[in-house]
This record gives sequence, C-alpha cells and structure tokens, in this order.
Amino acid sequence: MVRSWFNAPKDKSNDAKTEEAEAPSFWPPLKADVPEAPPSRQDDEQPEPAERPVAATPAEAVAPSPARPDTTVEARSPVAAHRTAAPVAAAASDAISIPAPAQPAQRLADTGAAAGLDPWVPSTTDGVVGHTMYDLPNSEDGTITVLLPREHIAATPSQALVRIVSGDTRTYLGIVVAGPFAEPDGLRADAGLIVTTSVRSQPFQPQYHGRIRVELLGEEVNRVIQAPRFRPLPGSPVSVLDDEETTRVLQVSGDIRLGRAVGHDDVPVGLPSRSKNILPRHLGIVGTTGGGKSTTVAGLLAEGQRAGLAIVLLDVEGEYTHVHEPTTDPTMVRLLASGGLEPAGIPGTHLYRLVGRETTNDAHPHSHEFSLRFSDLSPYTVAEILDLNEVQQERYFQAYDVAKSLAAEGRIRGFNQQLDLAELDDFEQGCPGVTLAIMRSLVGAFIGVADKGEPSVTEPSIADQSASILGRIRDRKPTSPVSWKAVQSRLARLQRLRVFDVSRGQAQPLDLDALLAPGRVNIFDLSDIDGTDLRNIVIADLLRATQTAQERRYAAYEAAPAAGPPRTLVIIEEAHEFLARNRVSSMPVLFGQVERIAKRGRKRWLGLAFVTQLPQHLAPQVSALINNWVIHKVADPAAISDLRQSVSGIDDSLWQTVRGLAPGQAVVACGHMTRPVLTAIHPAAAQLRMVD
Ligand SMILES: Nc1ncnc2c1ncn2[C@@H]1O[C@H](COP(=O)(O)OP(=O)(O)O)[C@@H](O)[C@H]1O
Ligand SMILES: [Mg+2]
Repeated sequence: MVRSWFNAPKDKSNDAKTEEAEAPSFWPPLKADVPEAPPSRQDDEQPEPAERPVAATPAEAVAPSPARPDTTVEARSPVAAHRTAAPVAAAASDAISIPAPAQPAQRLADTGAAAGLDPWVPSTTDGVVGHTMYDLPNSEDGTITVLLPREHIAATPSQALVRIVSGDTRTYLGIVVAGPFAEPDGLRADAGLIVTTSVRSQPFQPQYHGRIRVELLGEEVNRVIQAPRFRPLPGSPVSVLDDEETTRVLQVSGDIRLGRAVGHDDVPVGLPSRSKNILPRHLGIVGTTGGGKSTTVAGLLAEGQRAGLAIVLLDVEGEYTHVHEPTTDPTMVRLLASGGLEPAGIPGTHLYRLVGRETTNDAHPHSHEFSLRFSDLSPYTVAEILDLNEVQQERYFQAYDVAKSLAAEGRIRGFNQQLDLAELDDFEQGCPGVTLAIMRSLVGAFIGVADKGEPSVTEPSIADQSASILGRIRDRKPTSPVSWKAVQSRLARLQRLRVFDVSRGQAQPLDLDALLAPGRVNIFDLSDIDGTDLRNIVIADLLRATQTAQERRYAAYEAAPAAGPPRTLVIIEEAHEFLARNRVSSMPVLFGQVERIAKRGRKRWLGLAFVTQLPQHLAPQVSALINNWVIHKVADPAAISDLRQSVSGIDDSLWQTVRGLAPGQAVVACGHMTRPVLTAIHPAAAQLRMVD
C-alpha cells in the first residue's frame, strides 16, 4: 500500500491503537512494516493534514518516531516522488519500497537542495496558480482542495474567486473559503522532525506549499453559472479571476453604493434601488456598537436620496440630526480624501420631533413638530399599550363601540366624514374622529352609570349628545366600576403624555403624502422620548401612516403608471427595542401590524431597514422577514448563531471573519448577489452626531 506524500496517517487523537504502526512519519510505510494495517486504511483515514491540530502536548509532539531501520533516501527527489506518487496512490496498486535515511533531517534537506528550491514546479500556463487535489474520503460536495506553490499563496486570499478548468473540459467557478494554509512539502506539519527541531530552537524548515479550500459556485456554461453535477478532476489548473470578472460573477453591484469588496478595490458593492427583490424585501443592518452601522445608514440616506427613494428614518438616539452638514470627523475626512471624495451634507433633509419633546439639533433648517392622532391607533394596539387585562379590555371595547357609533352617525362635533364601519379594520387603525378625550369622557360616563351616580358627558365635541350617549350606556348595563376605573386611569396616563390630538403651536398631525416625495429624507428625532412604550407607539404609528400613504401613492401609480413606482424606505434604528423578542407575546397586535406592513410592503414598494446591535434580541418573526443583510462585526457567539438561522449563504470562514471585522467592514448578503461578499463600506460624507 502506498500513499502520496501529502497523505497523512490517521489523526492520532482519534485512534490511539494505530499510533504505533502509523508513526508520524512522512515515509511511505513499507508493505512489510505494517502487515496489520487493513487494506482499506488509506481510504478511511486521510483527513487533510494542515487543518488538524498539531500534536496536542509537547510530550506527544516530541515522541520519537519508531525508526525504520537501515534506510536511505532513494535517488528520487521529493519533487519526483510527489509527481509520481499521486497517480500511483490513485491506482492503489503497487507498493514502492523506499528506504528511509538514518538521519532524516539532513538527508531531506540535502535532497531538497539537490532538487532545487521548489519541490513543485508550477504549471507553465499563464495565470494558473495551483491545481486541484484528489478527493479524500472526507471530501465534501461543493468544495475542493487546491494545492499551490508557495509563490502563488499571496494570489489566493480568502474569498478570492477562482476558475477551475477541469480535464474533462468542464469549467467551474469557485471561491476560496479556507486558507491559504502553508504546508511543508513532503511532511506533515506536525511531523516529529519539524516539531522536535523547532522545540530545540533549530527549526528544520522544509520547503512549503499552499493549500486552499474552494467552494464551488457552479459550473460555467456559456458564461452562466449552473449547479455543478460533477467535480473538477484532480490536477485541474486553477486561476484567479480579475476584478472585472469578479464583478460580473459576484453580481454585487447596485446604484445604491455601499462600498467595495475587500481585496478588490475595483469591485463596487451596492444595492439595486429599483429591484423589487432587495429593499422591499427588507434589510437588516447589524453589528456591535462601533461596528459601523450608523455610517452605513448615513451612506444609505445619501445614496437612497440620489436614487430617488423617499426615506423615513426613525432616529432613536438623535444621531442623524446633522446629516445635512458635511462631516468634520478627521478620520472620515481623511478616508474620504483617500478615495478622492469630499465631505458633503445630505441636501434638503427634514427633521421631525414629537410635540413637546427636544431634538438634538435645534438649529436644523427644516424642523417640524408633530403630534399623534389617537384615532390612528388600533383599539387593540391601545389595549396592548395600556396593558389592559381581559376584563378591562372588554370594558374598553364597550366604550369604543359607543364612540364608533357616534362617529358613524355624525354625532361628533367638528367631524363630518362619512364612515362605513363595516369597512373599518380595527386591527389596522382606530376609528376616525374618535379622540383620546372622547374615549376618556365615555369611560367616565360608563363609570357614572355603573356606580349608579350622576353620570355626565363633559367632552365638548360630544357634550350635546349627552342624553343619547347615556341611553346607549345604560342599555349595556355596565357593572363593576372598579375595572372601569382602571381603564380610566390608564387612559389618563396616555393623556398625560400630551402627544395625542394636540395642535399646539406648530405641532400638527403628519401629512405623510408630502413626506414621501421622491428623494426626500425625513429624520424623526425620537431621542427625547423617554419610555419604550411611547417610543413604540410613535414608531408603530409612523409605520402605519407611512404604509397608508405609500399604498395610496402606489395605487395612483398603478392606475396611471409614470416613470417608475414610488419607492419608500423606512429605517428603524435600535430595532431590537421596538421589536424585542421578549415582547412578542405581550404585544401581538403591534407585531402583527409590523408583519403585515412588511409583507404588504413587498408588493407596494415599501422597504423596511432594521438597524440593531443586538440581533439576538430581535424577534425571530422579524428576522424572518429580512432577506438582505449588512453584517458588521458581531463578536457575541449567541448573536452569530442566531444570525446563522436567518442569513443563508455565508460560509463558515466568513462567519468566522464576522467576529473580527474592523469598523466599517461588513459582510453584505443580498438577494441579487451570487454569494455574500466581504465589503469595505464607504466612509460617511455627512455629519453624524456622536452618541455615548
Ligand atoms: N465605513 C467606515 N469606514 C471607516 N471607518 C468607519 C466606517 N464605519 C465606521 N467607522 C468608524 O467606526 C466608528 C463607529 O462607527 P458607527 O457607524 O458610529 O458605528 P455604530 O453605529 O455601529 O455604533 C466611526 O466613528 C468610525 O471611526
Ligand atoms: Mg450607531
């Protein structure tokens, strides 16, 4: 039995029994030496050498290998040995009897020198960097091992694209997913010889070659990549694709420019703004704090605006209130300059803040204050936000029904909209005309009736309907004033936020139609809203309002198609707070609403971008809606393993890379791409406010 020189004996740790017979030696075992070795040994027991750990302990490492007595290096050089050993091994027929030297180190060195420096003469074909290796029992579908001479190692960094022209005339494209590793020629890296001499500070260093693992992207047929049905044959030449071809194969570009592929300065990475498969299928921008998410978002704002998107940014920390100004961050300025770019603000942004709340930029040139309309909130959402129990909810809905009927009958002063209650979806929104004050007044009247006191209706917009209202309430025979009072006090809490139905000073409910003009960037500074609940109410309301407006705009476009559909992108910062995993069960309506918006958004060109440093806190239902990802550094193993459930196509080595990405680097995995690509995100030209 013979093995080719790069074949290694079985991993000792796995099988101590054979250790003796299979000493860590690079010499092909002599047939006579190992009579007990089963004939199928070679097939079962040859993992790829360099991926395996070197000897675990020094003791193990320096364990003397059983000498093969009286041996000499045969006249053939390791080069020649390699060249011929492989085919012979494949044939697995004849054994060659090679005597081993008495002093292996010296003899091997001599032999190496005699054979010239390079034990493996590379192919003479231009551009060929290496050759495919034979398959091993542990070879896996979809990947293949490639060996390369030392001088070509630098040409095959991780994620480089390669072409393999197989001996059967098929051509394959692949990508480097492991390595490049350096392996000693003719020896295992953990051979006793190498380990011992290194330990004794006189390292014996044989020549070495490179090894990479290539994941097959597919077979190239007429420049189209198809799923491969075969594998490249052993010994097939492998060449590296240039930037132009890499661009074509990876298909990672788009008019919304994000950055450049790492290692390929001329391969731009971006999102196609007009593709229905990308932004409307939603985007996740994740990574630890300081990973570069906000910089990515700033780029998205600038590029999205250029592409004509309407953008609504929910800026939870008030980081983006200065993006209309050019950046003054020295690092960014320098990085921009090195790319031939200059700092630049995003023109014409609009800044919104909730009535009565502060903004992180008082001097913004287009600043607006907005209030919320209580009637926009679905009664179910209200019940969720107020955390009403079942009995209280039932009370609330009784009052709400009375309010609805008043609205439908035109009995609310100042509200004369024609209403068709059957058309109203209580899960989507509230009843137009029904204010928080009306609800409070009605609940107060219910309490009065239940208490058998002297109920009255004081809210001015319905006071003149008092008699009719009290009649309706009495018909319902309310009891247990206690739970009614609980509802009342919670509504009062909502009222104290002073954000519903107020038109104080400049504050107005939003007119979303104006906000969704192409190229308009709207920044909602939510930094001064304390309390997750209120912030979530605001976010939920803005989402709903945006969706309603976008659907209107999209319907108008469909009725009379213009140049292109209106496209809207909503970016939600700190998304894990809004859509936290541990709140899914307590806020099913809110989640249901977001889910609906995300699903309907696909058809009506409303994209959501979720930005979070804690992707593992994001509800899985939300992650499942996200088809495109920009993944900055994620160090937390739990977060990575969570992401792996949601993001497909990222190989192990790339996930490994994610853990150590530099600020501004990201793995971009989007629907239009052949495969995810490691990207250096462009520095931000616009000013970001530092938050602590
Ligand atoms: N694309 C980039 N290019 C260069 N440096 C970047 C890039 N993105 C981020 N950085 C650096 O990292 C810092 C933090 O980036 P930031 O976008 O605020 O991260 P995050 O929002 O994830 O906390 C920046 O101040 C900058 O120094
Ligand atoms: Mg940030």
